[in-house]
Amino acid sequence: MTFALSTLAGELATIESDAVGRLSSAGSPEEVRAISAEAVGKRSPLAALNQKLGGLAAEERKVAGAQIQAARSRIMDAAAGVLESLSALERARRDATEHLDLTEVLATASRGSINLVNQTRDRLEDTFVGMGFAVAEGPEVETDWHNFGALNFPPGHPARDNFDTLYLDYGEPGTTLLRTHTSPVQVRLMQSQPPPIYAVMPGRCYRKDTPDARHIPGFSQIEGLVIDRGITFGDLAGTIDTFTHAYFGPKIGSRLRPAYFPFTEPSAEFEITCTICEGKGCRTCSGTGWIELGGCGMVHPAVFEACGIDPELWSGFAFGFGIDRLAQMRHEIADMRVLLDNDLRFITQF
Ligand code: PHE
Repeated sequence: MTFALSTLAGELATIESDAVGRLSSAGSPEEVRAISAEAVGKRSPLAALNQKLGGLAAEERKVAGAQIQAARSRIMDAAAGVLESLSALERARRDATEHLDLTEVLATASRGSINLVNQTRDRLEDTFVGMGFAVAEGPEVETDWHNFGALNFPPGHPARDNFDTLYLDYGEPGTTLLRTHTSPVQVRLMQSQPPPIYAVMPGRCYRKDTPDARHIPGFSQIEGLVIDRGITFGDLAGTIDTFTHAYFGPKIGSRLRPAYFPFTEPSAEFEITCTICEGKGCRTCSGTGWIELGGCGMVHPAVFEACGIDPELWSGFAFGFGIDRLAQMRHEIADMRVLLDNDLRFITQF
């Protein structure tokens, strides 16, 4: 190749358009690198032209060198541009083929369901909220005073035996325990707000019970507390009956039988029409037509005094029952332990 400044521009233009043309049809980064090496590398026509610069006069060499360098950088720019668009294409391809459509996974996979005890708790809360009650919660780890003392079970009181529980190695021995009922939330509520109070307290409770068909040592309760002026035992009976109809339907009623709790006086157990035979008498209700659901009574004046409420001005009632028991009755579950087993054959039914 002869070298003349007059023809250099034309030669460079040919080399450049040839290289840029080939680059624009390159299909991969490797191809781009191979093409640019051929166009500007050691054995390229550009390198050959560079070598011939030595035969030129100094002035001409400068001009020619600058032209070659400019062509070289335009080719390199074109290569970089092609590399950039190739990698954008590659990203788009990967996005399209490899992304996970989570909506599809959610639509086809099982999303699980809420545990039956929690479903029951939610429905109970809805029923009571519909009757005008607020919902209150409290800690599962309680002081002996909130769980027993304030509720008129002084230390050594025999009724504590029915509520045997686990004590925690915390503070003075025997002062911290796993609550045996949600009644301590009533204490906390009475201490934290003045009457009137209309509230239910759902939550987990613990007792030293050996698991069997009708007992589990960690269970759930819901209790109710009403304090206002002039509240009577008739209000208690009416509230329980209204709840029973609202929750179980018109065929299920309630009745009260005398009982004993240290924190209520008078106290009662409340029974509801057997949900299985609807009162006709069956094995589950031992032929009586009734099933015991929970306890209730008029708040004991000693409890009011412990919580700083004047029993001369205010009166009230409380009631409480087991949520697991209720679920067991409503769904005719023979053995309560299945509520904790996480056996899919049971869980997927609800
Ligand atoms: N706390 C009692 C229990 O766990 C139930 C109850 C609540 C009884 C309120 C009377 C009043 O057995």
